[in-house]
Amino acid sequence: HKGNYEHYMQKEIHEQPESLTTTMRGRLIRGGTCKAKTVLLGGLKDHLKTIRRSRRIVFIGCGTSYNAALAARPILEELSGIPVTMEIASDLLDRQGPIYREDTAVFVSQSGETADTLHALEYALQNGALCVGITNTVGSAIARKTHCGVHINAGAEIGVASTKAYTSQIVVMAMLALAIGGDAISNQARREAIIDCLFDLPNKVRDVLKLDQEMKDLAKLLIAEQSLLMFGRGYNYATALEGSLKVKEVALMHSEGILAGEMKHGPLALVDESLPIVVIATRDACFSKQQSVIQQLHARKGRLIVMCSSGDATAVSLGGACRVIEVPRVEDCLQPVVNIVPLQLLAYHLTVLRGYNVDQPRNLAKSVTTE
Ligand code: UD1
Ligand code: BG6
Repeated sequence: HKGNYEHYMQKEIHEQPESLTTTMRGRLIRGGTCKAKTVLLGGLKDHLKTIRRSRRIVFIGCGTSYNAALAARPILEELSGIPVTMEIASDLLDRQGPIYREDTAVFVSQSGETADTLHALEYALQNGALCVGITNTVGSAIARKTHCGVHINAGAEIGVASTKAYTSQIVVMAMLALAIGGDAISNQARREAIIDCLFDLPNKVRDVLKLDQEMKDLAKLLIAEQSLLMFGRGYNYATALEGSLKVKEVALMHSEGILAGEMKHGPLALVDESLPIVVIATRDACFSKQQSVIQQLHARKGRLIVMCSSGDATAVSLGGACRVIEVPRVEDCLQPVVNIVPLQLLAYHLTVLRGYNVDQPRNLAKSVTTE
């Protein structure tokens, strides 16, 4: 089962080039002469018209599955033009928040059995929304009870901390955005760039996995810290939340993902010369804003670890003042798939070095079937 790996989490991190390949298998169409590149999601093809007509798309999930939806939200909004809102399943139920017949509610769950998500599904069904599932488990409760959906086909995930399911979920939701977006001429160049990038994404993930030793070295530096902040924005706000969730759940270290745009509204007060901070500053439309965040955190003497695109080390390190993690650049909306990998590796190595249980973190369960 674990092959040459010591832990399932480690195996599942390293098999992401293969799990992403199976997620996309048969679903990307290269296009021939006169034919556009496109995506085919068999489970959705009869429902796309209804989804396109909906007034709103609501993503609903818990934990890592929620973070994956958050990573996909910008591209879904861009390509569909439909407002996309986010719901943590338990919070939707606590509020009994409004869900309408004109809504498409998308339930994201690796296991397909999480009680909060399942109850939110029952609630949305009662309210008449079109319910779409994105699950990894064929025959699971959420797969059965949704009107339609997509299996992410990432293969069984055993480690309690979700890794390969996260990257496959993002890829499926990017494909969902392409499928809903249709083939309007105005979007064509953007669509083709994303599809080309999807074909090459397993190779880019293979490249970023070469940072394994570098992340182990970084983990050695951080082993005794109390806390680790992660700042992201735009496509990579989700990366900050998911990276810090990994560190918290397996390495048992306090970690917080922070929306960089909120820095001055509170988090900046925490920054001093002892606090380690990861800043995600890969190339996209937010890059210059992140450069200014780096400068401001540095001015408060924060110990910065900056994740940037290959070749950008000089542009972000403030003359060597920051430690840098360079990652391959991909299409902006798919960058979260690449960027999470070094943080998964960091959380893994921190856990091993701190001597905690990697695959069964204390107090947590793979599938939470009670509310
Ligand atoms: C399906 C087959 C796959 C086959 C392919 C060939 C299954 C499970 N999948 O894949 O083995 O190789 O056709 O064309 O038999 N669904 C939900 N909710 C969910 C997830 C899925 O209702 O949360 C539904 C879908 O709407 C669809 C069915 O389950 O009706 C299968 O979904 P999926 O496996 O994603 O479909 P295909 O990729 O077409
Ligand atoms: C649990 C797991 O809390 O449930 C997490 O430990 C997971 O890893 C969360 O993200 C949601 O699970 P699922 O199966 O609904 O995606």
